[in-house]
Amino acid sequence: MDNAIRYGDSKPIKVELECDDSQLKIRIQDQGPGIPADQRESVFLPFYRLEKSRSTTTGGSGLGLAIVRQLTDANGWTVELQLAPRSGTVALVTIPQTG
Ligand SMILES: Nc1ncnc2c1ncn2[C@@H]1O[C@H](COP(=O)(O)OP(=O)(O)O)[C@@H](O)[C@H]1O
Ligand SMILES: [Mg+2]
Repeated sequence: MDNAIRYGDSKPIKVELECDDSQLKIRIQDQGPGIPADQRESVFLPFYRLEKSRSTTTGGSGLGLAIVRQLTDANGWTVELQLAPRSGTVALVTIPQTG
C-alpha cells in the first residue's frame, strides 16, 4: 500500500479482498506508471529500485518488497506484481486456507 501511494501518481488506489474456502487474496491496485515486465521480480531484491538514485525524495530504501517477500515465504503465502488493466500495478498477496 505504501508503494501504491508513493508510486501511484497521486491517483486513487483500490484495495480488494477476495475470500473463498481455499484462500484469501489481497489485491492492491494503483494507477501509476507500472513496472516493466522484466523487472517485476527484480524489485523484490533488497535495495533494488527502478529509479537508480539513492534519493529518498523519489523512493525509499528499496527494502519494502524484499521484506514483504520474506514474510510471505515464511508463512507459505505468495506475493506477485502484475500489470494493472489500464496502467499501473497490482500487488497480489495470496494466503491459502490452512487447517
Ligand atoms: N506500485 C509500484 N509502481 C511503480 N513502481 C514500483 C511500485 N512498487 C514498487 N516499485 C518500484 O520497486 C522499487 C522497490 O520497491 P520497494 O522494495 O518497496 O522499495 P522502496 O523503498 O524504494 O519503495 C521501488 O523503488 C520502485 O522503483
Ligand atoms: Mg516501498
